[in-house]
Amino acid sequence: MQNFTFLNNQLISTLTDEYHTPFYVYSQKEIEKQCQAILAIPAPFGLTARYAIKANPNTAILKIIENTGFHFDASSEYEVIRCLKAGIAADKIQLTSQEMSSEHLELIIKEGVRFNACSLEQLRRYAALAPRNSEISIRINPGLGSGSSRKTNVGGPSSSFGIWYEQVEEVKALAEECGLRITRLHSHVGSGADPAVWERAASLTLAVARQLPEVKTLNLGGGFKVARHAGEVSTSIEAVGQTVADVLKKEAEETGRNYHLELEPGTFLVANAGSLVCSIDDITHTGDDGYTFLKINAGMDMLTRPALYAAHHPCIPVSDSDEQVEYVITGHCCESGDLFSVSADDTLEPRLLPKSNIGDTVIIEGAGAYCASMSLKNYNSFPQVAELILDHEDKAHIIKKRETMEQILVNEVLPSYL
Ligand code: LLP
Repeated sequence: MQNFTFLNNQLISTLTDEYHTPFYVYSQKEIEKQCQAILAIPAPFGLTARYAIKANPNTAILKIIENTGFHFDASSEYEVIRCLKAGIAADKIQLTSQEMSSEHLELIIKEGVRFNACSLEQLRRYAALAPRNSEISIRINPGLGSGSSRKTNVGGPSSSFGIWYEQVEEVKALAEECGLRITRLHSHVGSGADPAVWERAASLTLAVARQLPEVKTLNLGGGFKVARHAGEVSTSIEAVGQTVADVLKKEAEETGRNYHLELEPGTFLVANAGSLVCSIDDITHTGDDGYTFLKINAGMDMLTRPALYAAHHPCIPVSDSDEQVEYVITGHCCESGDLFSVSADDTLEPRLLPKSNIGDTVIIEGAGAYCASMSLKNYNSFPQVAELILDHEDKAHIIKKRETMEQILVNEVLPSYL
């Protein structure tokens, strides 16, 4: 009998009887439990927790998270529009974006969405459209980065995110000239940060806040590390919360400034609250010195993290065999990079798993964050898969239907000369 994070054998067989694999399934209970852990952080002068929408933007997930008391961190104007369409109040949304068109900036200002300028140019563009004396947040790059891979590290000199911390004087002069008031300060150094990094990132951000006398809110971003498989260590949310609370209290004693804390986790809330349920389509091998391949009916088109970051997700065949076999798990896309059992240096990494058969179900865990949301959308013309949520009674509800072939083709245009 295998252990799953939130599924069990009975539930899996009920789901696979009703829905064709592959599909994502999420647990409302797990998401709410994680939200409560964040909201319990003992911020001495108040806490606003924002959900980093990019982790999983499905409207049902946004609603569940909003109901716990969370606000939202959007990474593009399109995520803002998604939230507004879901009925989320504009003042609960803050936009922190790498790209900012003036067209959408107008909409954001009109709706009253909070804006976090990530560059001097964004500050200028905002000032050109916003009323004088508007309050604004700026994102700084505190000079320190952290992440489980280079691709998820967004701080330090090799990262383009935020205003470099040594440019504060320029920011102040520009804000003054444009008539903007910087009342909120933001930094996010990466995903997969270790607890020690938090103290350092908080201190560096506070050092910048000391130069900005109107700042009242300090947003330290997301990035709480979550263990997705045995051997990985999760950030202790209690330890990080206490560390940050202590840093803020000390700052208050030294400077008399009581900062309201904001945090914006994505991964922490949903990573282990989602699984991809798929099936073994084929089993092949490459001889005595080769490998045995479990070929599943899912792939990098719907769960890209292993191909992109060599990320490790547990792949658990639902099998009652006591015999253990070394398998390499491959996806259904036509390229050798579509591997689910991949090592950190991007090579095949066989896993010891119960002996399995064609047709058996496989549960890929740790698939709630940056999986459905980061799918490659129709590579090999595979449709985007269905997504389900399990309510408090573990009853499944569809929250996204499987895409049809017609939907895949809907925006293609055949010019009349062909
Ligand atoms: N705030 C900002 C400004 C961010 O850029 C991010 C993530 C977050 C918050 C949330 O970080 P989290 O708590 O989820 O670590 N696709 C990668 C992660 C890259 C996320 C980029 N920004 C992954 O699959 O792990």
